[in-house]
Amino acid sequence: MSETYTPDFPEAPQTVAPAHPNRQTLDLLARRRSTVAKLMGGPGPDPQQLNTLLRLAARTPDHGKLFPWRFMVFEGDARERFGEILEARLREIEPGGPEDRYTFERQRFLRAPLVVAVISSVTPDHKIPEWEQILSAGAVCFNILVSASAMGFAAQWLSEWYAYDETVAKAMKLGPHERVAGFMYIGTATEDPAERPRQPPRIERWSS
Ligand SMILES: Cc1cc2nc3c(=O)[nH]c(=O)nc-3n(C[C@H](O)[C@H](O)[C@H](O)COP(=O)(O)O)c2cc1C
Repeated sequence: MSETYTPDFPEAPQTVAPAHPNRQTLDLLARRRSTVAKLMGGPGPDPQQLNTLLRLAARTPDHGKLFPWRFMVFEGDARERFGEILEARLREIEPGGPEDRYTFERQRFLRAPLVVAVISSVTPDHKIPEWEQILSAGAVCFNILVSASAMGFAAQWLSEWYAYDETVAKAMKLGPHERVAGFMYIGTATEDPAERPRQPPRIERWSS
């Protein structure tokens, strides 16, 4: 069941608690897993849930209050229209392939009811290094995974080939300092994902 609870977002300059001890949050972080897009079905977030999800995602640290990211939402018919662009592009760069490969591209975004592209939008030549602005966009992507999970949805962070294709970037009207940080697929899992191997954290103690 998807959670319809809407949290109470604070407004500046309100104070907020410095910590939010919560066992369920710890369990979520300890057990959260991506669900591969091919094991995703409906429902996805409704408009109100999507609004909550993206407000939560946008509560991400960013140095200098640049908000160096924006969202592009793909839902309904727009998913297949975007797929037509992917198909056309693949026919161009990999002609003569098997037809089912092109059909897959056309239907790529239909794997989930909702795809949100997180676009890293960097202010160049700023005192805040580009690296930090890009890291903030990555943190937004992870925030989507965690928030979607807490709201009862399955999610996966994908780049795949089309995050790096210039023609696709043009079709998305990305600016010269913009890149896709992630295509976030969001829906409902058709089966429970199996855990993947996790490395123990590599930790050393610094000493002079
Ligand atoms: C920036 C980024 C891009 C990724 N792109 C892909 C991808 O294109 N294809 C893929 O199979 N997994 C991709 N992944 C990996 C998965 O989405 C996911 O991180 C992995 O399966 C395990 O994640 P989990 O800790 O959420 O279970 C990407 C991960 C990141 C961080």
